[in-house]
Amino acid sequence: MKLVRVGVIGCGWIAQNAHIPAYIENPKSKLIALCDINKELLDNIAEKYEVKHRFTDYKKLLESNLIDAISICTLAPTHSKIATIAARNGIHILCEKPLASNLKMGKEISRAVNRNKVKFMSGFNYRFLPNHVKAKQFIDTGKIGEPILIRGEVITAGPYRPDMSEIDYKREAEKYLGAFFDVGSHLADLFIWMMGKPVEVYATFSKHRNNLSVDDTAIVLIRFKSKVLGTITITWLDLPDYQAIAESRMIEIIGTKGKISSEFYGPSLFFYGINSITSKIKGKIKITPIKFDPKVPDQALKWSYQKEINIFLESILKNKNPPITLEDAMNSLKLVISAYESSRFKSVVSIG
Ligand SMILES: NC(=O)c1ccc[n+]([C@@H]2O[C@H](COP(=O)([O-])OP(=O)(O)OC[C@H]3O[C@@H](n4cnc5c(N)ncnc54)[C@H](O)[C@@H]3O)[C@@H](O)[C@H]2O)c1
Repeated sequence: MKLVRVGVIGCGWIAQNAHIPAYIENPKSKLIALCDINKELLDNIAEKYEVKHRFTDYKKLLESNLIDAISICTLAPTHSKIATIAARNGIHILCEKPLASNLKMGKEISRAVNRNKVKFMSGFNYRFLPNHVKAKQFIDTGKIGEPILIRGEVITAGPYRPDMSEIDYKREAEKYLGAFFDVGSHLADLFIWMMGKPVEVYATFSKHRNNLSVDDTAIVLIRFKSKVLGTITITWLDLPDYQAIAESRMIEIIGTKGKISSEFYGPSLFFYGINSITSKIKGKIKITPIKFDPKVPDQALKWSYQKEINIFLESILKNKNPPITLEDAMNSLKLVISAYESSRFKSVVSIG
């Protein structure tokens, strides 16, 4: 079988925990090259994973003819420049979320990808968690009737650690552009995937710790074209007992004929439907489409990254469109940017 020759740009957290191991484990790919501006980190990671080619300048990697595909694992403000040069060199792109730090940069990526006809997939890995897949199936097949409300609540550490210095936390929080940009991008994508086009947003953000210039807490209200109303609540906070706060990491969808509540990090969901015989007998039922070891909290997430990488590779090898498109990434970005605009002007923002 032909292997996809891959490079990873940015060797930080997401590269080390998701992209690099997933490419190495996948029989469809060969990880040929790594790139990072931090030479010491680059050398350490390249040695650990025995990757032959190392670059500190992404342009040299993209012009090297060594690779067919790239994972962009740098921070959002750098995505557009890297993606534009990758597309110009005919290299297929898996780009981490959020697509970009503003809409202008997002449009630059769209232009370059469309002009050069390379594959582009956005790194919204939560779409592959088995509970969200099942929730979407239940919605699409009318198991909860007409959706009325969608609610997401996520308490997550983000960059916050209790033992961090103020300066380190501020730097890390600002690096991810705020809690809503960081985690909200995922929820925006999941909500749009499940509920369709959002038309209005109202958001209020706050900064609880350490003179931040970005939000660490967010509440966002969304009106969808279908009249569904949504709320997203996010805070960055490190509460270490994963099980104890499980109910504060969830997505709930209420419809005219039932309800789904789904664990945000997977793998289970709860379903209640007035037309379901099982619900009539047992009430709310817990469904775990794929079982993972509950003592390993990130196992389902790891699985979602492997799935994401496998689908990206398959789309290249079989010349198919990847399932999470540039348009999807732009839609999530538009909702996120509109939420920041709403928070700044304290008013409802229409989403075009
Ligand atoms: N899908 C998810 O669940 C998920 C989880 C975490 C992070 N992310 C996303 O992944 C991206 C990276 O986040 P991270 O946590 O890995 O950040 P990170 O800071 O740990 O890693 C980024 C790396 O990029 C390198 N870098 C910066 N500019 C570069 C350049 N011009 N060329 C080459 N390398 C460069 C840095 O030196 C650093 O090592 C972000 O967009 C983030 O939102 C996604």
